[in-house]
Amino acid sequence: MKAEMSLALNRESFFWHKVHSLTGVIPVGYYMAQHLVLNSFTLGGPEKFNGVIEFFEGIPKHFLIVLEVFAIWLPLIFHAIYGMFIIGRSQQNFIGTKYGWSQNRMYTFQRYSGIFLFFALIFHVSTTTVQKYITGNAEAIKYAAWHDKLTANGGILLIFYVLLVLTASYHLGYGIWNFCIRWGITVTDAAQARIQKLAFAVFIFLTLTGWGALAGFLIHPSTAAAPPTVQASLVR
Ligand code: HEM
Ligand code: HEM
Repeated sequence: MKAEMSLALNRESFFWHKVHSLTGVIPVGYYMAQHLVLNSFTLGGPEKFNGVIEFFEGIPKHFLIVLEVFAIWLPLIFHAIYGMFIIGRSQQNFIGTKYGWSQNRMYTFQRYSGIFLFFALIFHVSTTTVQKYITGNAEAIKYAAWHDKLTANGGILLIFYVLLVLTASYHLGYGIWNFCIRWGITVTDAAQARIQKLAFAVFIFLTLTGWGALAGFLIHPSTAAAPPTVQASLVR
């Protein structure tokens, strides 16, 4: 009876662990990749970035909310909370296996990055989307607001975002590699070596894309997107 119960519990945690793993790649990993690519439109100037924001603002409200809740919030909240639970339980790690010390260290980093992401994303989402909903206007997430906040207070938020992008890209890159092993996609050593290269490429690509987005907020003046004032139009 006891054995059956523990088997059932193991099966349950195996199931939720798989769901956790899947949510990391789809939809959360996918969302993050497209999010950073769209954010890097800042490199094209304020109008390009604000164009992306306005595109999403143009989606009918009820549809946007359903999309956000089911495609982003619920999977992310589940992944984040269950992830913290895995970290807290601190189960199995690769010490003493064929993966060796360096692999073990990368695995540990992924868990640390999870803890950082947990708090960093609470801050990030509450100062962007949540603020937009509370104030009822999107100015707080547009180019000028980003330019101002990233350059204020000695660039402390810029440093925060540089780290957020780096940590999230690492977490996803390493996660993809782990995911492929967990789901039996890569079984042979040769396949694992190939996926490791792909995972590393994802890590580098997303880090540079996110950093590019941040650089884009700095290289253009924040006023460039402001509509001409009445006076300025009259003079013209
Ligand atoms: C270059 C760095 C980043 C910038 C400039 C940025 C920008 C933004 C903006 C403008 C929003 C508001 C979108 C809206 O409500 O329409 C937002 C929301 C969000 N961001 Fe980021 N972000 C960055 C990095 C990240 C990273 C690394 C993640 C990790 C997954 C992330 C996850 C989210 C999530 C989950 C939301 C809420 C989405 C929603 O509910 O629509 N962001 N971000
Ligand atoms: C918000 C806080 C987050 C926490 C606390 C967290 C926690 C974790 C933990 C502990 C693992 C390892 C699971 C294991 O060892 O079995 C993991 C794996 C993973 N995470 Fe996260 N994570 C977070 C955010 C994210 C984000 C934003 C993404 C996507 C951009 C993501 C994508 C992944 C992927 C792809 C995996 C690999 C799945 C696997 O091991 O099979 N995570 N996460």
